[in-house]
Amino acid sequence: MDPEPPTERTERRWLLAMCLLLAVMMAVVVGTSLAHALHPPSNVETVDPLRLHLAGEFVENNLGAEVEADGSVTVRLLAQQYSFVPNCLILPADTPIKFRITSPDVIHGFLLVATNVNTMVVPGFVAEVHTRFAVGDYTMPCHEYCGLAHHDMWARVAVVPKDQFSQLGSTQRRRCAAH
Ligand code: CUA
Repeated sequence: MDPEPPTERTERRWLLAMCLLLAVMMAVVVGTSLAHALHPPSNVETVDPLRLHLAGEFVENNLGAEVEADGSVTVRLLAQQYSFVPNCLILPADTPIKFRITSPDVIHGFLLVATNVNTMVVPGFVAEVHTRFAVGDYTMPCHEYCGLAHHDMWARVAVVPKDQFSQLGSTQRRRCAAH
């Protein structure tokens, strides 16, 4: 049998290098999504943006943080021109937190600086994001241009140790006073 021509040997090596590169990139994507929960928000859930204030989970007195039976926390928020409702939250550290957020008017952005929380808020849809926090203060700016006062649209989240959170009254647990 003839020895392998040099061009074929080179091609085979490039093919192998490409396959290895693809395997490494795939491993990075899977690894970061599992280890750091970094993945695009993929919740598709519709809601009528004209009726948010009338009935259902986004009525005013249901907004804010709610402690679930299993100890996790669900936070319901509205993003609207030009504020988040509520615009101040106190949350426990090292606890599974689920944000559910929607908009009654235009597209806003929902970002918590230095966390994996980053999504668009589209009227007609409920965006859902899962995270856990370390103790600290987090700012929550709207990062999608939504009109003239877009730059003034932001909220803040204070994350406190679990035991400190459980000592708060039920009103403070739901939302803190406006800044
Ligand atoms: Cu809301 Cu920019």
